[in-house]
Amino acid sequence: MSGFRYRPEVLDGISEHEIAYLKEYEDWFLLESDDLKKITDHFVKELEKGLTKEGGNIPMNITWVMGFPSGHETGRVLTIDMGGTNLRVCDVCLSSRKRDFEQTQRKFKLPDEVKTGTNLQLWDFIADRLEFFLHEHHQGGQNGGIIPLAFTFSFPVDQKSIKSGVLQRWTKNFNVSGVEGEDIIPQLQAAFQRKNLPVRIVALINDTTGTLIASHYRDPQVKIGSIFSTGCNAAYMEEIKLIPKLKDAGLPENAKVIINTEYGAFDNDRKVLPLTPFDRKIDSESVRPGTQIYEKMVSGLYIGEMLRLILVTLHEQGRLFKGQDISRLRNENALEASFLSVAEMDVSEGLDDMREEFEESLSLSPEVYELRICRYLIGLVATRAARLYACGIAAICKKKNIRRCHVGVDGSVFNKYSGFKGRAAQGLRDIFDWPPDELELIALNTAEDGSGVGAALAAALILEGEQKAKPL
Ligand code: BGC
Repeated sequence: MSGFRYRPEVLDGISEHEIAYLKEYEDWFLLESDDLKKITDHFVKELEKGLTKEGGNIPMNITWVMGFPSGHETGRVLTIDMGGTNLRVCDVCLSSRKRDFEQTQRKFKLPDEVKTGTNLQLWDFIADRLEFFLHEHHQGGQNGGIIPLAFTFSFPVDQKSIKSGVLQRWTKNFNVSGVEGEDIIPQLQAAFQRKNLPVRIVALINDTTGTLIASHYRDPQVKIGSIFSTGCNAAYMEEIKLIPKLKDAGLPENAKVIINTEYGAFDNDRKVLPLTPFDRKIDSESVRPGTQIYEKMVSGLYIGEMLRLILVTLHEQGRLFKGQDISRLRNENALEASFLSVAEMDVSEGLDDMREEFEESLSLSPEVYELRICRYLIGLVATRAARLYACGIAAICKKKNIRRCHVGVDGSVFNKYSGFKGRAAQGLRDIFDWPPDELELIALNTAEDGSGVGAALAAALILEGEQKAKPL
């Protein structure tokens, strides 16, 4: 009889005695339904706290996007998306036919030195890539005029309007000097001016807001937009009357606004999340210790590092890769989320793809039983991430009393890590006690184009508003 609570097939044939030490990992990483329910209930309280004047761990940022597009928006908008890994420039043309658009886009890798350099380097890098894109795809402004641009900035900003935003703090291990505490829009617009680019920034939006808008545009049952990628976050539409921090803003009580929750910061004060020694190490060695605690347990930037720390520990205890040179494994961030995904997709008897990954990425040649142990650990790390991810979505639904909806989810981990979506869906089922034969009432669906079409739609809404406000 196994003392393991979860012992997948991959461990069959390995005697329990040999791997008894793994039970500790099971205790650390396995989250039962009751654990998820407890975390979700605390999450709901923290979402509410973030809407008060005093605030809490979760920023609950006001986006100033006060409605969904009708689908009849028209016009041409440039968009720039600065995510965790890439910079994506798009030229979006919204057609007069309902829900129809065309877009041209180009992706550029954001070099590490730009992520940790100075503000001038960052904004000039962006202006430079935009100039390149304009030369390649766009002959200049419409009728030689200025082109409106929507900037998707996937970091927490405090906004007084949709055209401005003070960076609260860098996340995802970015560390560009001269930006925190500053309004980023004048800085970026100045970089465009230095190059005489014919563009005007009309909207600053978060990637989750873009995802919500773009997904709702395609499917009105979408009530939450979420990203599960390098970082993790979600946005939803809130009623102004339920936002105490907007009480004196003079907005109509019946109006609504999209809230960018920035819930990666959930439980920064460490009340409910079951932190392991590995989570503590990841946090203490990160660029901003003490921040984004939930995100550091869940998102793509950290799950590879989590596995790496576990493997190094097991090697040092003489359990794995005996007598092998693990110097490459010792390099910080040597493993990316894709490593875990490739390993979990390997269904071969000898785990051949997994072995190849170990050889190529780490110059290690594990025995089959070692590969099987690694597979088990990967399952634990990835399942915990997916189940914790479900808590954030469940918390928004509970807070808003949503029993049935679609959630638009974008991001490389969600879209490319097979098995991730199913695990997150099972997490929701466990939290809400849906019977196994009942369909998922809250369905996590793949979203697309948040930073392109979503951002362009947000800009088109703003431009429409400006047009209406113009004196005749
Ligand atoms: C950022 C969010 C963003 C999320 C996903 C987090 O680190 O703070 O603004 O939405 O990553 O990209």
